[in-house]
Amino acid sequence: MGRFDGKVAVITGASRGIGRAAARRIVEEGGRVVITARKPDPLAEAAAALGGPDTALGIAGKAHDDAHRAEVIARTLEAFGRIDVLVNNTGINPVLDAVVNVEPSAMAKIYEVNVIAAARWVAAAHQAWMKDHGGAVVNVASIAGQHPAPGLGVYGTSKAALINLTQQLAFELAPAVRVNAVAPAVVKTDFAGALVGEDEAALAATYPLGRLGVPGDVAAAIAFLGSADAAWITGQTLTLDGGRTLSAGVG
Ligand SMILES: NC(=O)c1ccc[n+]([C@@H]2O[C@H](COP(=O)([O-])OP(=O)(O)OC[C@H]3O[C@@H](n4cnc5c(N)ncnc54)[C@H](OP(=O)(O)O)[C@@H]3O)[C@@H](O)[C@H]2O)c1
Repeated sequence: MGRFDGKVAVITGASRGIGRAAARRIVEEGGRVVITARKPDPLAEAAAALGGPDTALGIAGKAHDDAHRAEVIARTLEAFGRIDVLVNNTGINPVLDAVVNVEPSAMAKIYEVNVIAAARWVAAAHQAWMKDHGGAVVNVASIAGQHPAPGLGVYGTSKAALINLTQQLAFELAPAVRVNAVAPAVVKTDFAGALVGEDEAALAATYPLGRLGVPGDVAAAIAFLGSADAAWITGQTLTLDGGRTLSAGVG
């Protein structure tokens, strides 16, 4: 018996990286998935690698586009008949600068994708399925939403908002729907390229567990929080950081 036998998950931003690993994990544990991303070709390749139309459907679009979101929800119900799990994985960080240097338009875009879109995905899944049948939401936040970091201020405040949104939605949507989040430190994906830099070993040495994260580390936590194993957990943010934040900058 897989933890996701008979279950269906919608995972945004899942043609590569953490989202794709989460989709793979859920499929490996018996589930079917609908994955999204902006670029159609890598998304189609990912859906095929996840088992093709019986198991995985890829629907291209922007996470913050209302029409795309409505299409994903409608086509998920049409193809697979239910939405048990929503993983709000899409997140952007187009600027690496001090908060005071970031243009309001760039700030608004980050908030639109990282916070507002996540709230709207939950609203859409809730309205279409979860309010009557229950479900679980997992939001992908970041340790940047828990601690300040050089150059990551606007992104970090958006992830802090996502963490608070997780608590608020957990409160509002209980008991039918559980809402939790994960907060990873640096995970080796395309997204983290600028953070890893040229000396991965030096960065990894600052992690008590001695290495950076890999997408499977986060996928395992997403699968846990999305599954019945986490049936009594809601409103929580699980930090996944190889111990990176334990010393609070002291040691
Ligand atoms: N990697 C890290 O170190 C790290 C640490 C903490 C938190 N996170 C969070 O983890 C999440 C996933 O990051 P990742 O590292 O897995 O990134 P990634 O490897 O770059 O993958 C991002 C995925 O999202 C899609 N995407 C990007 N913008 C999108 C948009 N506006 N609408 C729809 N899809 C979009 C991308 O495909 P397209 O380009 O085709 O759209 C791709 O499938 C993000 O929320 C990020 O903030 C990452």
